[in-house]
Amino acid sequence: MYDLLILNATLVNEGHLTKADVAVEGQRIAAIAPDLSSAPAKQVIDATGLHLMPGMIDDQVHFREPGLTHKGDIATESAAAVAGGITTYMEMPNVDPLTINAQALEDKYQRAAGRSRANFAFYLGASNDNLEEIKNLDPQAACGVKVFMGASTGNMLVDNPETLEAIFEHAPILVATHCEDTPMIAANEEAAREKYGEDVPFSEHPKIRSEEACWKSSSYAVGLAKKHNTRLHVLHITTAKELELFEPGALKGKRITAEACVHHLWFSEEDYERLGAQIKCNPAVKRKEDRDGILQALTEGRIDIIATDHAPHTWEEKQGSYFKAPAGLPLVQHALPSLFDHYHAGRLSLQTLVQKACHNPAEAFEVKDRGYLREGYFADLVLVDLQATTEVTKESILYKCGWSPFEGHTFNSRIVTTLVNGGFAWHDGELGQNIHGQRITFNR
Ligand code: DOR
Repeated sequence: MYDLLILNATLVNEGHLTKADVAVEGQRIAAIAPDLSSAPAKQVIDATGLHLMPGMIDDQVHFREPGLTHKGDIATESAAAVAGGITTYMEMPNVDPLTINAQALEDKYQRAAGRSRANFAFYLGASNDNLEEIKNLDPQAACGVKVFMGASTGNMLVDNPETLEAIFEHAPILVATHCEDTPMIAANEEAAREKYGEDVPFSEHPKIRSEEACWKSSSYAVGLAKKHNTRLHVLHITTAKELELFEPGALKGKRITAEACVHHLWFSEEDYERLGAQIKCNPAVKRKEDRDGILQALTEGRIDIIATDHAPHTWEEKQGSYFKAPAGLPLVQHALPSLFDHYHAGRLSLQTLVQKACHNPAEAFEVKDRGYLREGYFADLVLVDLQATTEVTKESILYKCGWSPFEGHTFNSRIVTTLVNGGFAWHDGELGQNIHGQRITFNR
């Protein structure tokens, strides 16, 4: 007797669209077959007309715990994540205290246990003086080592060249970098301050956090990785120019991979006038040509992974002038819907979408038994209706910060059901009654 049967869905998986039935037993996928309709099951979903895919694995979120929980916390932001079809997230170390040692990492796993609706893993943060922590890191204790090679929210800049060399040489697991050249940005900020005073228009953000600043830092990271054969993952690429640093093609075998985030695939320079601080983020939203170049790089394979960089700040904090308003925007609830809009517009195939948002994060981080629709894998599943719509209203927003840069937009899809480890995390517009998120493990 299966716990759940999902009948008649179109599966999007491993490069194919296939009509099939899926059976779930306990936390795992028990069977995938053309017709399971006569198998006994406790519960049956008729998914005729719906698409079934693995849940999104978001390799870059900021859930603000501990220390910054007025902006968001693990319970609130993971609820928004499952409503958006994200079943696993990897969370960043720029919290308070910083996640820069084994003890701080374990504290986060304990906080998430029993409170996170989605599965979770945490990054160990690098600093200018925690090399020993990095060298001694247990490969099961973190998804990756995060290195801020450019300063952003939180005081985590690593700018000592010897330290960077040593991190790239000795990190025992994947190194994920934020790449922007801080001295260049500081000079641009100074020039903007001279020109505008405190009231710098938000449209200056991509000129201050410039293409050159991204290029200088990304090419530095790629150079270091080539020198030391580091497993490098460059986060949130924002310029078409940086794409030449990355190889096209499949992820398998690559030592250097790159990520794009949903807001950089959606917004462009033209949106600063309407949205101002709401789309101020680091690295900055840049030109239309950059956005379109990055979208194309998904299909070419120069960009391997799509993530969110979900980074909530309160509405009040965002009301500050240019230098005061913090960088970052909340995204997890609408990441997949935004990608399905790209699909409807002919910019992204469903197969590529699932590869970049589900399969490749599992491959890049060596996640065990997740990221695919496969018998024996965890039942982290999303049913999506590509014919229905999702209107982004204030009332429907689950983030603690209570706002979204997409407010007023109607997406051409609806996340109908999200299963996490076989449990209903989201169904028909409601959060599940139980918490199903687990600490993920790695094939390493
Ligand atoms: O815009 C951003 N916000 N970029 C980052 O790198 C950090 C993030 C945050 O934590 O707010």
